[in-house]
Amino acid sequence: MSRRAHRDIAVLIGTRPEAIKLMPVVRALEEAGAAPGVHLTGQHRELLGPILADLGLVPAEDLGVMRPGQSLAELSARLLTGVQGLLRRRRPGALVVQGDTTSAAMGALAGFYEGVPVAHVEAGLRTGVARNPFPEEMNRRLVACVADLHFAPTPRAAENLRAEGVRPESIHVVGNTVVDALFHARDRLLPRLPPDPALEPLLRSPRPLVLVTAHRRESFGADLLSIAEGLKRLARSFAGRIDVVYPVHLNPHVDSPMREALAGVAGIHLCPPLSYLRFVQLLLRARIVVTDSGGVQEEASALGIPFLCARRASERLEAVEAGVGEMTGPDAGALFAAAARLLEDEAAYARRAAPTTAFGDGRAGERIAAVLLGDAR
Ligand code: UD1
Ligand code: UDP
Repeated sequence: MSRRAHRDIAVLIGTRPEAIKLMPVVRALEEAGAAPGVHLTGQHRELLGPILADLGLVPAEDLGVMRPGQSLAELSARLLTGVQGLLRRRRPGALVVQGDTTSAAMGALAGFYEGVPVAHVEAGLRTGVARNPFPEEMNRRLVACVADLHFAPTPRAAENLRAEGVRPESIHVVGNTVVDALFHARDRLLPRLPPDPALEPLLRSPRPLVLVTAHRRESFGADLLSIAEGLKRLARSFAGRIDVVYPVHLNPHVDSPMREALAGVAGIHLCPPLSYLRFVQLLLRARIVVTDSGGVQEEASALGIPFLCARRASERLEAVEAGVGEMTGPDAGALFAAAARLLEDEAAYARRAAPTTAFGDGRAGERIAAVLLGDAR
């Protein structure tokens, strides 16, 4: 890919984490003098709006692929043809996709079909289990097959790619851009954020805050209910001593059962998804985090906030090895026991509460921009 071609870069964003994790790339490209085009697929809308505003991302267009109740196949088909149309109209020199959503996978495939070079940010994450997480494990394997440039967040991710036969020269270990976004939010954006009266009591409460997120497709049904049961036990057993805060994902398979299971439980505060800056504000105040989110695990790791991973398989074992993360799975008893230990045992907590740079040092965006613009040394 020529240096000139790389200056005309299209950045594809489908969901909340893609916006957060691509913002540092867009910023670094702009700082290097390029003018990347930001294109939304429309996979997320309500979740994305406040985040784009927080991050100052101005999209050039929105492909509007979402339909109520559509299947993954229908979503994929709309994405494939939608991104194809975008690439035919714009003919960018490169297409940047991030992570393992269906927007990223179909975007990359459309790039491949159209002969537009594809750069994959957060490449090489694997659990090795085809259906866990579903459909993300297969989405990211697909992107690896068609991408021309692979930006691996960690050495392990790069090793995963090499083991699959990806050309070593096309792999760059750069760190995860989520750390860039987090530090930028904490150090530059939060100091200017006016207080939100709804969150102030939680931010000022002397009680330890347990911050929760859960949304994975493979957990729909029994596993989500088990996570809810673990949270209920925690809230009852630490009644009056902790605040559990859970911004509930808008996916109806998450929102309805979790609200039914947890609404009205004393000590558990359910709220709609938060804007990025409000979420980071709570995260910075959190004593522990309970999550099945990829991005939230990385953020908690960078800040040294001990977290419990409510999933059966993880592609982010670096956090567990560093000690800050613990795999409990969705089992109610295991979640409750691990959380209670962290809340009661100061020494155990202190051993876990160390920030790690395992996922990055906050400079991934500039490294990616340098490679994309052909300036990498
Ligand atoms: C999607 C990604 C997942 C990623 C997650 C991040 C796929 C298949 N899933 O999961 O990999 O980890 O985003 O959050 O790519 N909804 C809204 N408004 C929104 C967003 C979602 O109403 O802004 C509701 C809609 O009813 C929608 C449903 O959530 O149909 C599911 O959205 P979808 O993007 O298919 O899956 P997510 O669970 O959000
Ligand atoms: N996040 C947010 N508001 C919320 C919950 C999470 O802005 O109410 C952010 C969080 O800081 C992280 C990202 O969303 O950067 C994670 O997205 P999500 O859990 O949806 O997806 P995943 O990382 O699991 O793909």
